[in-house]
Amino acid sequence: MNVSDLREILQYVPRFRERIFVIAVDGTVAASPNFPNILLDLAVLRSLSVRVVLVHGASHQIEELARKRGIKVTNSDGTGITNEITLELAIDAAIRLTNGIMEGLSAVDLRAAYANAIIAHPAGILGGTDQLFTGRVERVDNHALELLLKEGIIPVIPPLGFDGEGRTYRVNSDGIALEVAESLSAAKIIFLGADEIVGGPQQLPRQLSIDESEELVKKLRGSAANAGLISKLECSSRACRGGVPRAHLLDGRINEALLTEIFSHEGSGTMIYSNEYQQIRRIFKKDVRSVMDLIQQSVEDEEITRRTKADILQRIEDYWILEIDRTPIACVALHTHQDLSLAEMACLYVSKAHENKGFGRKLMAFAENLAREKGMERVFALSTRAVNYLQQKGGYVETDIEVLPGERRMRYEDSGRNSKILIKELRPRIS
Ligand code: ARG
Repeated sequence: MNVSDLREILQYVPRFRERIFVIAVDGTVAASPNFPNILLDLAVLRSLSVRVVLVHGASHQIEELARKRGIKVTNSDGTGITNEITLELAIDAAIRLTNGIMEGLSAVDLRAAYANAIIAHPAGILGGTDQLFTGRVERVDNHALELLLKEGIIPVIPPLGFDGEGRTYRVNSDGIALEVAESLSAAKIIFLGADEIVGGPQQLPRQLSIDESEELVKKLRGSAANAGLISKLECSSRACRGGVPRAHLLDGRINEALLTEIFSHEGSGTMIYSNEYQQIRRIFKKDVRSVMDLIQQSVEDEEITRRTKADILQRIEDYWILEIDRTPIACVALHTHQDLSLAEMACLYVSKAHENKGFGRKLMAFAENLAREKGMERVFALSTRAVNYLQQKGGYVETDIEVLPGERRMRYEDSGRNSKILIKELRPRIS
């Protein structure tokens, strides 16, 4: 770990202090060798004053118990029919797991309580079939959960719900997590899953806006995608629509996946977000210092031309930065020579900690688009050490000094940097 990692971590700590995170753990994850690590990570979150609600699934445990007892269950994940015998078994398996989780939490000195905070109703008759003891969340007992949270106690919620008559229903844990997160106005809902998250037919993107996530759900419905993935994506988009700013889908079997997701800019899994996360924006006077700090190392390494504050200020409207959660991590400038329909892409830089993630290409494409919008036909770039990058990732080709406009050519010669000159013809965008 280095100082910039620490800066990143410390940026998120105050942001999440006293906020509620609903963490939904699948039964498979609770049974995995990584589960003790997750509990340790919860202790870290608690020590940073994050309020944690733990919701767990149990379908893995239900299937195992059914095998052991030689019973055939009608459904194990709370999305199909639950007959009486399945419900009995689900209660046994789920509560046994809740108890196991309590033991684990005690072992890391965390206080926890089993909360019967889910008021459920029968799912009813769907497609002509009575779902029997499968329930849906009718209401969440916020008050009970808030009391526990205020006392620093982690509510542990099994995938069961109760009605006013004291009947128990089997309720899917993704749905419970969603309802709990919404009604507590949580800052995050975090799904810790297993194969359904990483083993899908397609690699999930690192982040999705709500619209993108809803789009993906539509697409996956018609495909062979795992129902668990669809359910988690859907609950995530719904949570975001319902006021939870960010939802996360993580592989719960990976050590440190949880803390990396929460305390780094890029995270470790997939995030669905409704608030601002990444943006490319123009710089203002107050940003000049951070641009200079950002590129400083690269200037020292002779990759980027030295610029003074005055240089940047003089052409401030040409400079853009890419921010993640308001921290500048990359920059680019686009200078135009209107009379020649020629633009220069300059000062392209991505901070070391964020290299090789496609941010350079993103900014390059952004600058080229900008050039196109300004009616430019070609973009050139001068480079000493990123020549291969510009050729391979950007499709730039080497050219000679003749292409440079007179005044730029003089500056080029004066600089003595002997940069290579690369150029790219901008094809009009087909939209
Ligand atoms: N650490 C930040 C958060 O928890 C950003 C996480 C980004 N994750 C991602 N998969 N893109 O809100």
